Amino acid sequence: MKIFHKCALLAWLGIVLSGCGPSPTFLSPASSIAEHEANLFNIILIMALVVFVLVEICLVWILIRDRKKTGDDKSPKQIYGNSKLEITWTVIPVLLTVVLFAMTVQTMQSVAAPAPSSTDINVHVIGHQWFWEFVYTDLGIKTANELHIPVGATVQITLDSIDVIHSFWIPQLSGKTDAIPGQTNHMWLTADQTGAFIGQCAEFCGTEHAMMRVILVVDSQDGFNAWVANQQKPAAQTQTEEEQAGFKIVSNLCVSCHSLNPAEPEDKAGPNLAHLFSRSTFAGATYDLTEENINRWLHDTQPMKPGNKMDLKLTPEEIEHLLAYLKLLK
Ligand code: CUA
Repeated sequence: MKIFHKCALLAWLGIVLSGCGPSPTFLSPASSIAEHEANLFNIILIMALVVFVLVEICLVWILIRDRKKTGDDKSPKQIYGNSKLEITWTVIPVLLTVVLFAMTVQTMQSVAAPAPSSTDINVHVIGHQWFWEFVYTDLGIKTANELHIPVGATVQITLDSIDVIHSFWIPQLSGKTDAIPGQTNHMWLTADQTGAFIGQCAEFCGTEHAMMRVILVVDSQDGFNAWVANQQKPAAQTQTEEEQAGFKIVSNLCVSCHSLNPAEPEDKAGPNLAHLFSRSTFAGATYDLTEENINRWLHDTQPMKPGNKMDLKLTPEEIEHLLAYLKLLK
């Protein structure tokens, strides 16, 4: 009984907590694709609820009607072999299943349909253990963790991975599409409203699969243009000696995995740093990008994201210099 109570409490907590904070659920859609998915889910849920309630009413009614009464030794009336009942409870589920099948096929066709209008933006999305990299092929921008798009634009996405299979998923905007090494997949999306939408890698890809998130920022057209103009600028120049010392460390050490060139043509293992501090998050969009968190990260990345590939041993002085420089990269 105790275990039953614990399970019930956990289930209740799960339901209550899932209602807290901004929810990345596809049930609050922000694109036509997610809307098709949410509609299908709602229709199936309503049909299942109706069936559930009817079956439970029949069950409770029969339990009460045929319960053992005091002084009554007779069995209830047996209805085995009642053809009318047998046919009814076979035909109704078959009809329901056919309806569900037709609606599912129709939804799959809507979701897989080609984009309704011509492409406005091309983005190459690359899965890494454990972050998402974004290359705006026509704009000369390379960034990570946060994908910016303008509202209403048709965004064509090509998906690749440099290591293992990942899956790109922003529930409020799209279905899941795998990012597979050696195979390029395609998807498109159009956002109907501005805002920030959380996405999550949806294919188990190793230790930090859970910490491989993405934030899709849907800007107004003007906001997007301003973002593009800033991202295309070269990395900021150093002014002070401290910043210069930090720049030296990046040039000697960090550039083997990261780049300071916003249009870096070479594939790098780590996220592009040219405009690091223009982002709101880092480490697979799982930590707020603040001075304090970057400071902690430079001291030791492993407690923050165990298993990640960045494992440096820096002195407190080096960290100070690095931080002074990185803060310039807005
Ligand atoms: Cu990448 Cu899971």
